[in-house]
Parts: sequence; C-alpha cells; structure tokens
Amino acid sequence: MLVCSCNFITQKEIVDVINGLLDEDCWQLIVPAKVYHAMQKRGRCCGCFPNVVDIIIRTTEQYHAGRHSTDDEIFDFMTRLKQFHEENRRADLERRQKSHRAA
Ligand code: FES
Repeated sequence: MLVCSCNFITQKEIVDVINGLLDEDCWQLIVPAKVYHAMQKRGRCCGCFPNVVDIIIRTTEQYHAGRHSTDDEIFDFMTRLKQFHEENRRADLERRQKSHRAA
C-alpha cells in the first residue's frame, strides 16, 4: 500500500526501515523524519506523516511483542512513544494555526 505519494513510499518499505532502526536500538523514539532520512527521502507536503506515525506505533508494538521485552517495559515505552507523537502532533497543529492567522 502506498503511504507517501510524494516519494512513492509503500507501507512495507516504512515497516522494514522501522524494524531496522529498532534492531539498532530497540528503545529509541522514532519519528517520520528519521524514517525518511534512513531512506534518503524528505517529507515534501508531509501529509503522510500522521499515517507514518501510526505505522511507527503499530510496528514498534509488534516488534516488542515478538521480543523478550517485559510487559512493563513495553507499556512504559509505548506510553512515552504515543505521548511524544501526540505532543508533536499538537505542536504541529498550533504552528499551522499560527501561520494561517499570520497570513
Ligand atoms: S505524501 Fe509524503 S511527503 Fe507528501
């Protein structure tokens, strides 16, 4: 399934990159820009980023479910990851509203 129409990136390509990043450090916080950087791509319109965030959360959850991580570790990490993305989403929305008002 095509996730990013600007760069022609599929969901499978994104999942593969996320799993590769998690293999390097399974507790790192992954953001869309990090995924695209690893693919040597850049967000253009960034309209796909909310979907990429959902894929990051889902893939990270599945990654840890298949490893020896404890339920407490997974719960704590997933809570931090979701909170981190939610804060980013809110900040992005505020930035857009401010730039819309200024225009
Ligand atoms: S749809 Fe991905 S950057 Fe535009």
